[in-house]
Amino acid sequence: MASRGKTKARHFTTHIDLPPAVREQLVDMLNDHLADTFDLMSQVKQAHWNVKGRDFHSLHLLFDEIAGELTEFVDELAERAVSLGGYAAGTARMAAANSALPEYPADVSDGLDHLRALVERFGLYSARVRTAIDAAGKMGDQATADLYTEIARAVDKRLWFLEAHIQREV
Ligand SMILES: [Fe+2]
Repeated sequence: MASRGKTKARHFTTHIDLPPAVREQLVDMLNDHLADTFDLMSQVKQAHWNVKGRDFHSLHLLFDEIAGELTEFVDELAERAVSLGGYAAGTARMAAANSALPEYPADVSDGLDHLRALVERFGLYSARVRTAIDAAGKMGDQATADLYTEIARAVDKRLWFLEAHIQREV
């Protein structure tokens, strides 16, 4: 798990009925996903701005719609971390330092190449979110598990929107 230095140790009192050690683990996990989500959102924006080719306009709009949805999840993950008595590590620099996703390729222009880059990242992101659903449930926090479930369902749908451009029957 990535280190957030001093911010990782910041915790606050709360009347939420989960033991402090459990809340700290949940906050750490939420901050990891906050970083992933912020990073992914900025990568989708990068695609929104730089995409070129025959499908420019539809991809430009689709990428913006997806980035908007991810921005809402950034907010929900950060606010869940704070609700649990934690500290949200949510600046762009914190996200960049903590994200598990690879950097977005700077040398792609064509719509299909952007789609392939995003599909790869959405696949990684989705797998990590799915793991977090079970982890939060095992820690006794169904509310956080529910947030991850909501994100997983939305991200899987967005992955379909992206993949539908390049899918082949097997
Ligand atoms: Fe825009």
